[in-house]
Amino acid sequence: METLTNQLSDRINNLAASATLAMAAKARELRAEGKDIIGLSLGEPDFNTPDFIKDAAIQAVNDNYNSYTPVDGYVELKDAIITKFKRDNKLTYDRSQIVVSTGAKQSLYNVAQVCLNPGDEVLLPCPYWVSYSDIVKLAEGVPVEVETSLDTDFKMTPEQLEAAITPKTKMLWYSSPCNPSGSIYSEAELRALADVLQKHPQIVVVSDEIYEHINYVGGHASMAQFEDMYDRVVTVNGVAKAFAMTGWRIGYIGAPAYIARACNKIQGQVTSGANCIAQRAVITALEAPVSKIQYMVDEFKERRKLILGLLKDIEGFECNEPEGAFYVFPNISHYFGKTLNGTTINNASEFALYILEQANVATVTGEAFGNANCIRISYAASQDQIKQAIARIKKAVS
Ligand SMILES: Cc1ncc(COP(=O)(O)O)c(C=O)c1O
Repeated sequence: METLTNQLSDRINNLAASATLAMAAKARELRAEGKDIIGLSLGEPDFNTPDFIKDAAIQAVNDNYNSYTPVDGYVELKDAIITKFKRDNKLTYDRSQIVVSTGAKQSLYNVAQVCLNPGDEVLLPCPYWVSYSDIVKLAEGVPVEVETSLDTDFKMTPEQLEAAITPKTKMLWYSSPCNPSGSIYSEAELRALADVLQKHPQIVVVSDEIYEHINYVGGHASMAQFEDMYDRVVTVNGVAKAFAMTGWRIGYIGAPAYIARACNKIQGQVTSGANCIAQRAVITALEAPVSKIQYMVDEFKERRKLILGLLKDIEGFECNEPEGAFYVFPNISHYFGKTLNGTTINNASEFALYILEQANVATVTGEAFGNANCIRISYAASQDQIKQAIARIKKAVS
């Protein structure tokens, strides 16, 4: 049997496993051994899906929605997405520009597969969402990391963008609000990046806006809102985060029609479209006023305040103030080269592992997000859990 493992492709052998899911699996393993692990590693709201959405799904089951859907999504869902884009983002799309997928992750995978040829470079401002680089590699693209720092709130400047562009640059991918830094590009900042991109008309932009509603400062801007960029921006969004629907697996894009057509084509060969019941429920979710989910955002805002306050009291944790999403991304390089309770810490992965084993708190190494000096801590957990977790971390590094 063992020799058969050699039959795996280079493609899969070269693929990194998702670091966030790996950390969650490790935490589960330790829990099974009886350890009291507090999980702050996953990007998953700890709320239940709101009842009005659950009711719509139950109704869909009872209404016998059980057949294959159109590959790119029910027309009613596409129309709800079109209305949402207009209402929240002032973006005008028609049905030919919308594709519904099995999560925003699949939307991103589709876009990489249909846009990239081997060797095409994709700019990824660091820190970036953990899966971007491997999704790009699966499409035989070349991820090009653009380093940013705390000084610019982990945002890429126009100068950095300009310097990173080569004749091989095909795409730019970023998330705003950003996972893992929580940073949000303002309209002016996006405009300044767009001005650079004007000189490079071959570059297609992926704007991942899945944390759009989890915004503590107000004012969400989309790259596609600029008329001179609209034709080469793919706006990615989904319901996993803001509607507490991670397991329902629905994401979507608004894109130039030729890209949407290509994504439809790939889905037609790979999934035949997203789950029918989840699609019906998402129509109801998107048609509801955003105020219906504000209670979750308000609670995340409280937790952000709590965790930032608690982390301030720990030596060597240097944080930006996240403006959105539900993560903090402290720089913990202060501990590199130091020995804590007999363990020498050399990098962020070792630090995250140390915290897991000594404090029984699961976080994720920043290396997975393209920044080797930080760890990501999710505050999608109760205030009690956050207090306990940070107290344990503080003790473990004292
Ligand atoms: C920035 C970002 N994009 C996309 C996704 C994937 O979303 P979905 O669960 O809809 O596939 C995530 C999930 O963690 C994310 O953080």
